[in-house]
Amino acid sequence: MDDDNGFERLSSGVDGVDPLIQGGYPYPSVVLVAGPAGTGKTTFAQQFLFSGAEKGEIGLYITTLSEPPQWVMHYMSHFKYLNKSHIGSRVIFADIGPLLRDANPEDIIAFIDEKVAETMAQRVVIDPITVIKAFMGKEYRPFLFDLVNHLKNWRAVTILTGEVEPGKFYPQEVAHAVDGVVLLTYEENEGARRKYFEVLKMRGTNHRTGKQNLTITSDKGIVVLSGSF
Ligand SMILES: Nc1ncnc2c1ncn2[C@@H]1O[C@H](COP(=O)(O)OP(=O)(O)OP(=O)(O)O)[C@@H](O)[C@H]1O
Ligand SMILES: [Mg+2]
Repeated sequence: MDDDNGFERLSSGVDGVDPLIQGGYPYPSVVLVAGPAGTGKTTFAQQFLFSGAEKGEIGLYITTLSEPPQWVMHYMSHFKYLNKSHIGSRVIFADIGPLLRDANPEDIIAFIDEKVAETMAQRVVIDPITVIKAFMGKEYRPFLFDLVNHLKNWRAVTILTGEVEPGKFYPQEVAHAVDGVVLLTYEENEGARRKYFEVLKMRGTNHRTGKQNLTITSDKGIVVLSGSF
C-alpha cells in the first residue's frame, strides 16, 4: 500500500495503529517496539507477523531467548484470532540464542541475513534485541548499526523489541539506529494502571504524537484506541 507521497507502507496488523502512521510502517524499515516487562511487545510483534500471513506474506520470528516455538506459541494460543496453521509455513521461527554465547557479531548478522534470504520474509521480528547487549560489551553499538543496515537492504519491515527498566522509555543505543520508535507503557493514572501506545519516531512519516490508550483482549489481542493524552 502507498501513502499520499507514494511511499510504500506495510500494515502494522494492530487495530488503530495504521491511521497514526500514514497507513503503516515505511517499507522497508526497522522499527523498535520498546517497553517494560509485560507491556505487550511480543504480542504486538506476533500480530504484525500473523496479520501478514493472512495476506500471504511471509513472517520470520527470531527469538534471542532460546525459547522453543511451542513455548512462545503456548502463550500466544490464548489469542484466538492468531491462525496457528501459519506456523512453519508463513510464520517461521528461528533461534539465535545458542549463537549468542560465542558473541561474534559477524556470525549473528550472517545468520539473520541467511534466514531472511532463505524465507524471503517481508516481515521480520527479533524479540528481544536487548538481551544481545549482555553478550557483547563494546561491540554492541557497532553491531546494532550493522544489523539495521543489513535489514534495510531487504524488502522487509523488521520489528526489534526492546526491554526497558520501569521508568526508562527506550534502549538508547537501539533507538538511534532504527527508523521508527514505538513505546508501550504501563502507567498509573487516577489510581489504576493503564497501558499506552505512543509513536516517538517514524522516519518519513507525519505520525500522530502523544500517548494513546491500549487494550489487550483474548478476542482481538492489542487494540490501540485513538485520543491523545
Ligand atoms: N488474553 C489476554 N487478555 C488480556 N490481556 C492479556 C491476555 N494475554 C496477555 N495479556 C497481557 O499481555 C501481557 C503479556 O504480553 P507480552 O508477553 O506480549 O509482553 P512483553 O512486553 O513481550 O513482555 P516481556 O518483556 O516479559 O517479554 C500480559 O502481562 C497481560 O497483561
Ligand atoms: Mg516478550
